[in-house]
Amino acid sequence: MVLPVNQLNTACRPEERGRMASVGHRIIGFGNDRSPHDFYPTHRIAIEPLLQRETFVGPIWEPAAGTGAISSVLIEHGYDVISTDRYEYGYCEGGVDFLDATTNLPKVASIVTNPPFCHAQQFVERALEATTDKVALLLRLNFLEGNRRKAMFESTPLEKVYVFSFRLPFMRPRATVKAGMITFAWFLWKHGYRGEPIIRWIGDPHQAEAMEGNN
Ligand SMILES: C[S@@+](CC[C@H](N)C(=O)[O-])C[C@H]1O[C@@H](n2cnc3c(N)ncnc32)[C@H](O)[C@@H]1O
Repeated sequence: MVLPVNQLNTACRPEERGRMASVGHRIIGFGNDRSPHDFYPTHRIAIEPLLQRETFVGPIWEPAAGTGAISSVLIEHGYDVISTDRYEYGYCEGGVDFLDATTNLPKVASIVTNPPFCHAQQFVERALEATTDKVALLLRLNFLEGNRRKAMFESTPLEKVYVFSFRLPFMRPRATVKAGMITFAWFLWKHGYRGEPIIRWIGDPHQAEAMEGNN
């Protein structure tokens, strides 16, 4: 597989940063202190529940792999994983802009990633182009909102939404940050799926353990 290298797309636009800052800085991922390139490594606690509920046909492409937080867990679970990122973090091939329209996308069976928030919809569209089986993206639950998204959901095979019933701890590159007020969910598209989207919840594993301990 040859993936062209270029740097055409911009990171979050400044006006988006301003708008997000006014929404509230206390929410992780908002405000002027956003991590460069929207780099927020995914905590394992977000990945394992997906892998307990879904199996994937390989190879799986992680096209915004960062430092490999998702890729490494997928590999531990025995999957063949291709990892790339637009930027270089020392884990995988950098310089691969997933959103560059001139990129001749390779076809893979599945894509699993936590994309940069400000390009989430473009990631969905590109991921569906590049896959033959499943696309799983970790996104804010409010990705369900909006007219453009409505049109997209109605024309794409969204099969399941796994909503986290607890706040996910996201990490900054160097330190763990307490999660803010955002609810995340795994959005799962399955090529060929024709039914209505199914919604499921992912409970807090620590709370479940504590409840078992009380019995
Ligand atoms: C929220 S972080 C998640 C990183 C990794 N997927 C994880 O879960 O730990 C988003 C990642 O998207 C990458 N990224 C941003 N724009 C991109 C693009 N156009 N193409 C590929 N990767 C991109 C960033 O460099 C960053 O690593």
